[in-house]
Amino acid sequence: MKRAITPGTFDPITYGHLDIITRAAQLMDEVVVAVAASPKKNPLFSLDERVELVRSSTAHLPNVTVEGFDGLLVDFAKETGANVIIKGLRAVTDFEYEFQMAALNYEMSRDLETVFIMSPPQYMYLSSSIVRELASLHGDIDRFVTPDVARALNRKFA
Ligand code: PNS
Repeated sequence: MKRAITPGTFDPITYGHLDIITRAAQLMDEVVVAVAASPKKNPLFSLDERVELVRSSTAHLPNVTVEGFDGLLVDFAKETGANVIIKGLRAVTDFEYEFQMAALNYEMSRDLETVFIMSPPQYMYLSSSIVRELASLHGDIDRFVTPDVARALNRKFA
C-alpha cells in the first residue's frame, strides 16, 4: 500500500493544488492532504476553514483524505504512515525553496522520499496569494478556485 502526503498551507486551495492532488491520487493508493497550520504566514483562513475547503474541493477523489497538522512535516508523515511527500513545482522560482525543504526533510527522515510533479502551463502562475489579492480587489476568481472556495473568499472580502 503506497500512501503519500501532499503538504501545503492551502490558504486557500486553488485549481493548481487540485491538479497536483488529483495526479498524486492517480499515482498512489492513498493520498493524505496535509494542511499545515503555518502560523508564521498569518493565514487568511483558520486551519479548520482551510481543512474544510480542501475537503469540499477533493470530495470527489475516493482515495484522498485531509488532515490539519501543527509541527514538523516529517513527524506528521510518520504518524500518518506515509513514506512519500508529493509536491507541485511551478517555475524555477519554486525550486530553491523546495530543494531546501526536500533536503532538510531527507536529512531528518531517510525513509521519506520527496517527489515533484510539474504544474501544467495553465497553473504555472497561480498561487494562493495571487488569488487572495484578486479576491480582495473584487476580481473574478471563479477560474482559479472551486465554487465553495470562491464563496468563502468573497465572504472574507465582502
Ligand atoms: O504551501 P506552502 O506554504 O508552500 O507549504 C509549505 C509547507 C507547509 C509544506 C512547509 O512549510 C512545511 O512543511 N511546514 C511544516 C513545518 C516543517 O516541517 N518545516 C520544515 C522544517 S523547519
